[in-house]
Amino acid sequence: MVEPINAAAVGALADEPLDWRFKGLPASWWGRTAGQISSAAPKLVREEAAGPVCVLRAGALSHNLATMAGWCRDRGVELAPHGKTHMAPQLLRRQFESGASAVTVATISQARTYRAFGVRDFIVANELVDAAGLRWVASECDADPEFRLMCWVDSVAGVQQMAIALQGAVRPVDVCVEIGLPGGRTGVREAAAVDEVARAAAECPALRLVGVAGYEAALGHDISPDGLARITAYLLQLRSAVERLADMFETDSVVATAGGSTYFDAVADVLSIGSVGGRQVRTIVRSGCYLTHDHGLYARTSPLREGLRPALEVWAQVMSRPEQDLALLTMGRRDVSFDQDMPVPLELPDSRVTKLNDQHAYLMIGPDQQAAVKVGSWLRFGISHPCTTFDKWQMIPVLDDDDRVVDLIRTFF
Ligand SMILES: Cc1ncc(COP(=O)(O)O)c(C=O)c1O
Repeated sequence: MVEPINAAAVGALADEPLDWRFKGLPASWWGRTAGQISSAAPKLVREEAAGPVCVLRAGALSHNLATMAGWCRDRGVELAPHGKTHMAPQLLRRQFESGASAVTVATISQARTYRAFGVRDFIVANELVDAAGLRWVASECDADPEFRLMCWVDSVAGVQQMAIALQGAVRPVDVCVEIGLPGGRTGVREAAAVDEVARAAAECPALRLVGVAGYEAALGHDISPDGLARITAYLLQLRSAVERLADMFETDSVVATAGGSTYFDAVADVLSIGSVGGRQVRTIVRSGCYLTHDHGLYARTSPLREGLRPALEVWAQVMSRPEQDLALLTMGRRDVSFDQDMPVPLELPDSRVTKLNDQHAYLMIGPDQQAAVKVGSWLRFGISHPCTTFDKWQMIPVLDDDDRVVDLIRTFF
């Protein structure tokens, strides 16, 4: 069987020497490779780290991989996890080992990164309009019969541009018609226009119409009854497009794909169609953030919020206590996500981060905790939104429950 990702190429990441390029890591690790450190399993001693430092929790990662894999199996859906979340081939390898059928990416550059590690199955969850990117897709398709990539299209103009860029390609590029939400992001808004774009794609020899796609969280993560009703109504539009276009698809099975980390249950409910026009429907969810979950956005909104465990933390030190209820920390916007919520102090439930500068966090300390927060104290923070925390770290230690290093994860942003 062909490997979904080249295990040797991923394994070779363990040979990378550790040094000053990887912020946060103890200088006592420099000169040894990532693999040597993982084998020696040193305890990550905070006093040796040059804080802040970002860590992953091994137990939570394994738990989340198994939980999501079990959920997908039970619901009969495929998982093509969004690889832009972590951009880490080592983590993608574990997702493939847990049953993922493809990686989702947002850009050709992200696809190229994973392709460099031998990945063969891609969903590019976007329209592709750049000729250079399309030529790269065509050359990979023509060079490797095992290379499978589908992208999205939401206009006749897009179909025409793809056709021009793909002139001379042997194998057609697989496309899904993307359906969008009013006020949302990309994607065709009206049913008649959906059909027109689908027809243009089906008639274009350079393209192969394989399914229907969408991204239901383009407007946010509202899980109130009204919010969920809006999401269901949107997903029903995708479902009816799959049914309406049944005879136009050019493959034996039809793709129906949606689903970030907030609404994948609704996607499975609405898009598990079984078959249309004698063709099997492959329902594919694309959650990326399930893997590490978090202490904020997804802790509140994931359908598996009772089941998943937060796996990503940033540790920082108190550098200043200029006011009774204020601490300044060695962690800022360069180190932790702030696009959804502020970091969450894990040991101080009555305290909260109110602001981040580039290299500082402002911690307002609850009255009962003021004596405990001293200059030099180390504090652990949960994050809200994995994607925008991962991109700030290039080498992330994975720790067991005793804070021993069991792996080091290299990211490529
Ligand atoms: C098109 C698309 N699909 C899937 C996802 C993955 O969603 P999440 O980040 O909630 O895991 C995203 C995230 O932005 C996305 O834009």
